[in-house]
Amino acid sequence: MATSYDDIEVRRPDLARSYLALMQAQPGRPLAMFAPRRVGKTHFLDHDLAPAARALGWLPVYADLWLQRSAPLDAINHALEEALDDAQVAPTRIGRIAGTPVKKIGLLGAEVEIGEPPTRRALPAAPALRLDALVARLAQAAGGPVLLMLDEIQSLAEAAQGDQVLAALRAVLHKRRGVLHSVFTGSSQEALARMLSTAGAPMYQFAQILNFPVLGDEFLQPLARHFAKVHRGKSLDAAAMRAVFERIGFKPALMRDLVKAASAEGIVDLQLAVQRFLADDRQVAGFRALLEPLAALDRSLLWVLAHRKPPFGRETLAELRPALPGDEPTTSKLRAAMARLARLGLLSHAGSARAELTDPLFAEYLQGLALRQLL
Ligand SMILES: Nc1ncnc2c1ncn2[C@@H]1O[C@H](COP(=O)(O)OP(=O)(O)O)[C@@H](O)[C@H]1O
Ligand SMILES: [Mg+2]
Repeated sequence: MATSYDDIEVRRPDLARSYLALMQAQPGRPLAMFAPRRVGKTHFLDHDLAPAARALGWLPVYADLWLQRSAPLDAINHALEEALDDAQVAPTRIGRIAGTPVKKIGLLGAEVEIGEPPTRRALPAAPALRLDALVARLAQAAGGPVLLMLDEIQSLAEAAQGDQVLAALRAVLHKRRGVLHSVFTGSSQEALARMLSTAGAPMYQFAQILNFPVLGDEFLQPLARHFAKVHRGKSLDAAAMRAVFERIGFKPALMRDLVKAASAEGIVDLQLAVQRFLADDRQVAGFRALLEPLAALDRSLLWVLAHRKPPFGRETLAELRPALPGDEPTTSKLRAAMARLARLGLLSHAGSARAELTDPLFAEYLQGLALRQLL
């Protein structure tokens, strides 16, 4: 039983094992798990997938490509090098001594001859060759397969020479398929699709695309149980909790904050907590920051989609025209804007009639604004 809201955590060992089984069944083919931001992808890699991989005797190695988007291949190589350093620190006393330059040591009274530590050729400097050499050495040092976990893979779409990085990854994944598995996460399937098609092959051939499942009652129930423990006689309604969780786009940390806020005031109305969250200055500033870098046409399209207006409809074009003087909106310009927004991860199902904002709260915020307030 959780002792605070912050302790509530859902473990997903079965999901992790099913992903590992998929990788085992398709050597050389990475899994790419997609879901919007903040629903728990990184948490899953760290708390579920990595431990399940270790239990199989694999060595998980993690790299965040978004944080390192100016040099993604260096970031991957760096993560592998660190893992190699760890794997080479021998666990026994004699091993550690053998790593030192000392030639003859009295160990437990006896004179033991310890040779030079085996020297190996230096790793190649060229990043693509280095990746290949690192994977091979690491698998050997670890005595089992390496699981390379690349978080926010769509960052490669924006990285300089992202397609070369991808080509190098592809080649190494294929060549080392006996000892290397890989899983990618992403928040924009569109960005990855575009990136892989520029690399000259359809995405599904390269990676197996999976929609990463969001959390559900297994997360909401412990929150409700803890609330009931703190507030005797008051309880959160299960159906109302599900509705709120959906309204906020299934983001567990945000849901936890909303329940905490309601709990602090002793209220059971979570919709009210969402209302207050949406009106909060910090939150509004966050939404504004998302809009800031976008062109007027792109912002207008977000507004149109948030209001569930048909994006290419005649009436929509007529409504946008006076708002965009000097940039006559056309269907083709709107299509290009839609593709841009999708690559930024702001839209899902782009290009279809179901196109919508990935973040439902951002959509709600836009619904509360007039178009002119965005321009
Ligand atoms: N299984 C889980 N149980 C409890 N909280 C979770 C879980 N997964 C994610 N969270 C919470 O949601 C936050 C965002 O998750 P994160 O993995 O960073 O999302 P993503 O990588 O999809 O953007 C985490 O910091 C954590 O507080
Ligand atoms: Mg993440």
